[in-house]
Amino acid sequence: MRLSQDQIEAFHEQGYLIIPDCFSPEEVDLLRREGEAIYRLDRQEIWREKSGAPRTAFAAHTYNEAFRRLGRHPRLIEPVEQVFGEKLYMHQYKVNAKAAFEGEVWQWHQDYGTWARDDGMPEPRAMNISVFLDEVMPINGPLMFIPKSHRHGVLNAGHDLETTSYPLWTLDKATVTTLVEQGGIVAPTGKPGTVLMFHGNLVHGSAGNITPYPRKIVYLTLCAVSNHIRRPTRPDWIAHRDFTPIEPLADDCLMELVREKREAAE
Ligand code: SIN
Ligand code: MN
Repeated sequence: MRLSQDQIEAFHEQGYLIIPDCFSPEEVDLLRREGEAIYRLDRQEIWREKSGAPRTAFAAHTYNEAFRRLGRHPRLIEPVEQVFGEKLYMHQYKVNAKAAFEGEVWQWHQDYGTWARDDGMPEPRAMNISVFLDEVMPINGPLMFIPKSHRHGVLNAGHDLETTSYPLWTLDKATVTTLVEQGGIVAPTGKPGTVLMFHGNLVHGSAGNITPYPRKIVYLTLCAVSNHIRRPTRPDWIAHRDFTPIEPLADDCLMELVREKREAAE
C-alpha cells in the first residue's frame, strides 16, 4: 500500500497519519480474538497492570501466527518503507490492552527517547504503525498526540518507575504545557481496522480506561535496517536483536489464515 504525496506531506507536517478502513472486519476479528487468547497466556512477554489486568503483550509476532503475519503485512510495512526509503526490521512489537475498567495511563513521552537512551538507537529512523483492534473512542483511553511536537528533537525526560508497572522516560508538566500551547492535543478515534502511524519523536500518551469498552491497539515498531540498535539494555523480547530486513507477505495473508481456521473448525 503506497501513501500519496499529500499523505506523506501531512505526516511530516503533523507527525502522524490516520488511515481509516485499512483492515476489514474479518481480518480484525481474527486479530482481536487472537489478542484476547494471548492475554490469557502465562508468559514473561505479557506485562500486567498493577491490578493484574493485561497491559501489553510484547513480541506477539514470535509466538502467534496471526500476529506473525501482521508483522509482515504489506499494508503496514510499505508505508513506513516509503517514508524511510530503505528496508525495515522489527524493533518492537506490542499488543496494548487498555483493558475495560482497568487499563492504566501511559504518561506523556516520546518513543525515540526510550529507543535512544535504553537501546542505543542512533537516529529517529524508526516509528510505530498501529492497528485498532477495538473501536477507539474519546472515552476509552485513546492515544493523545501533541501535533508537530516531533520537530523538537529528543526532549529532556525523567525515568518514571513509579506511576505504572512499566518504566518510561516521561516529560515534565512544563514541557508538555509549552508544547500544547503551540500544537494543541488531538485524540484520533476510529473503527477497528483503522491504522495510525506516528513519528518516533511525536509526544504522546493516553489516560486510563474506566469504561466497559476495551481499547486494544497493536503496534509494530519498524526501524530502518541501517539504524539498528547499538547498545541494548532491555530483554530481546522488548528490543529485538534480529535486524533481518522484513519481506512483506501477500496482501491476503490474514484472510488466508481466516479461511484455514474456518476449514479446520468444520
Ligand atoms: C505507547 O505509547 O507506547 C502506548 C500508548 C497506548 O497504547 O495508549
Ligand atoms: Mn509510546
